[in-house]
Amino acid sequence: MSALADRHTPFIFNEWYVAAFGADVGRSLLARTLLGQRVVLFRTTEGSPVAMEDRCPHRSYPLSLGRLDGDTIVCGYHGFRYDSRGDCIEVPAMPNCPRNIGTRAYPLAERGPLLWIWMGDPALADESLIEPMPWTTSSDWGATTMSYQLRASYVSLHENLLDTGHASFLHANTIGEPDYVRAPTQQEQSPGRFTLIRTISPTTLPPIFGRPTGLEGRPTITRIARSDFLSPALYVIATTLFDGALNPSNRPEFHLRVSHMPTPETQTSCHYFLHIARDFAPDDSDISSFISSRFSGAFKEDVDALNLIEEIYSRSDGDFYEMSVGSDSLTLAMRRYLKERAEKEALLRSQKALSP
Ligand code: FES
Ligand SMILES: [Fe+2]
Repeated sequence: MSALADRHTPFIFNEWYVAAFGADVGRSLLARTLLGQRVVLFRTTEGSPVAMEDRCPHRSYPLSLGRLDGDTIVCGYHGFRYDSRGDCIEVPAMPNCPRNIGTRAYPLAERGPLLWIWMGDPALADESLIEPMPWTTSSDWGATTMSYQLRASYVSLHENLLDTGHASFLHANTIGEPDYVRAPTQQEQSPGRFTLIRTISPTTLPPIFGRPTGLEGRPTITRIARSDFLSPALYVIATTLFDGALNPSNRPEFHLRVSHMPTPETQTSCHYFLHIARDFAPDDSDISSFISSRFSGAFKEDVDALNLIEEIYSRSDGDFYEMSVGSDSLTLAMRRYLKERAEKEALLRSQKALSP
């Protein structure tokens, strides 16, 4: 098991993670722990998002407990003032501001409703590494968003996401159906990417998919679920639904893209951001609220399960090990990949720290 990432594995910093939904960051100071670091977020008067380490470099008081004044933060302890790059520009007790005092500012990139943060080596913060997700920016897609605080490692969440067969059991009354777990699957792997394609046909859709598409109750449905682990920060399930009894040349097809974005908070907690997009009835607010309430119920089932499992891990002191089976091969490969990346990065960090 030591080759597999788990709740003890160091974080992977050189990656874009979702820090917040852009709508949650505004003209007040928002404190959030991301990858074990305290971060404060806000928007400038012109609307640009800013993220800084949430620690005053003077005596370490949280900057988020200070005051936003224009585009600057005034520390709530001794009043040092920091600009949006994190540089100290005023020390009230001194006639001139000493140079070289500042807090770290993190690169951010806003894409549609998502605000991505880079907490690793700033020299590697290349925005082109952010996965293009047109379904989050195009008006052809209707969307709802939600988020959870998970009391479990982001590694557990990724494993849960890629192990889609659990839908027939944990989600038996929401997104699952009995046919799901035994349906044929296909796996694809490329460096850093892990894909599972499951085709369930013929099947009957649970109401969560059947009602908004109008396919409810038909026994001749094809449901194709493509699940992609795309990065430590992003996993997408693309679902295609159609009635297989209809002529392929003119039958309606329905598509959903559910983006799952885990951002580690601590080793055993995680921010879990979700974006649920559909290419049908994009402006129908009744469908949006139906999808929002049903999907939030379904994903809560995962959150509750992972919280319980973390409780068992945390009480066990490592006095058991888990048994894997053949159908776990893809999740094991993904966990090996996370572990390798984390260890490579940790080694580089320690070499850098030791170099003169
Ligand atoms: S701790 Fe912030 S000004 Fe002293
Ligand atoms: Fe699930």
